[in-house]
Amino acid sequence: MILITGGTGYIGSHTAVKLIEQNEDIIILDNLYNSKSEVIDSIETITGKRPKFYQTDLLDINGLEQIFKENKIDCVIHFAGLKAVGESVAQPLKYFNNNITGTINLLMAMQKYNCKKIIFSSSATVYGTTQIMPLTENSPLGVTNPYGRTKLVIEDMLKDLANADNEFCIILLRYFNPIGANQSNLIGENPNGIPNNLMPYICKVAKGELPELNVFGNDYDTVDGTGVRDYIHVEDLAIGHVKAYNKIKSNNGLHIYNLGTGNGYSVLQVISSFEKANNIKINYNIAPRRTGDVATVYADTKKAEVELDFKAKYGIEEMCRDSWNFYRNI
Ligand code: NAD
Ligand code: UD1
Repeated sequence: MILITGGTGYIGSHTAVKLIEQNEDIIILDNLYNSKSEVIDSIETITGKRPKFYQTDLLDINGLEQIFKENKIDCVIHFAGLKAVGESVAQPLKYFNNNITGTINLLMAMQKYNCKKIIFSSSATVYGTTQIMPLTENSPLGVTNPYGRTKLVIEDMLKDLANADNEFCIILLRYFNPIGANQSNLIGENPNGIPNNLMPYICKVAKGELPELNVFGNDYDTVDGTGVRDYIHVEDLAIGHVKAYNKIKSNNGLHIYNLGTGNGYSVLQVISSFEKANNIKINYNIAPRRTGDVATVYADTKKAEVELDFKAKYGIEEMCRDSWNFYRNI
């Protein structure tokens, strides 16, 4: 039985679908801080199977232990966490408490109930401002904001745990920029308020909910001066988790993988791919650089390819098409 924390969230829900489709037994835990319980209905509609759901907070130790008591959990896929970079700068303690304390509670419960396999949602943000591309799993690590610090601290805690107990199997997945949605259009990304990330912002402009996109800087040393990132379809990312789960079943130790496509697209290239895929014009203007941004980020994907047999298959236009198909229907 796999426990998916944060399983009603964006990436967790897509992963839940793929695991059910592989006939795995899953349980979802989420406090619904950033997602809705209807996602469970959508997962059932897509897969024909309704996962067991606990509305539980990782900060609620008793509630958490109850889940381990009631179910024989062999592996945890740990998505639950707060992820808004700007908010983490303004309220670091909220992030340290939720992400780090929440993870400690989870690991203590796992230890108590002898569950020793965990796949953790890390991020390319742990590479800080490293500028040599592509980023390999051995590239230097760094921190640029409190959110990123929580990822790095949790990675370090998990490394210590793997050192302390060689029965543990831990996989750290460092995601690049997930976009897109399941083709059912029933699950996808719908952040509250004004989005920080590029694709949700573009979708709001496309729908007329925001007047225009601010392109943060056009004087970077890139193909057209705008920032380049490695966007990965969330469906591919979900498959990456299934592959990681297949590996964790029969291994121990700690393993780290980048999950990206290895391709970088600039902001202007994303805008034109979106326009082409969806036949919609996106209004934009060039704005100043965003503090903390770097010119170019993309992954070296070889390790995941060789050790997990994972290779992303969707291209940027498909990502833009599926992001919009989800967003236009909500
Ligand atoms: P999301 O906000 O859609 O999903 C996270 C889920 O965790 C939400 O449903 C939220 O309600 C839940 N949650 C948060 N704190 C909780 C707590 N204390 N107890 C129980 N549930 C809690 O985010 P996502 O985009 O699906 O991201 C999933 C994970 O991947 C996060 O850890 C995030 O930091 C990481 N990540 C995301 C991205 C990205 O761009 N989306 C990139 C890199 C890493
Ligand atoms: C952001 C987070 C990072 C997180 C990642 C994936 C910051 C500083 N970093 O990175 O920690 O791991 O998301 O969730 O927030 N852009 C615009 N206009 C916009 C929004 C974005 O031009 O309105 C540009 C950015 O400058 C960047 C690109 O689009 O060049 C992608 O931005 P975004 O989606 O926020 O992702 P990252 O900056 O890679």
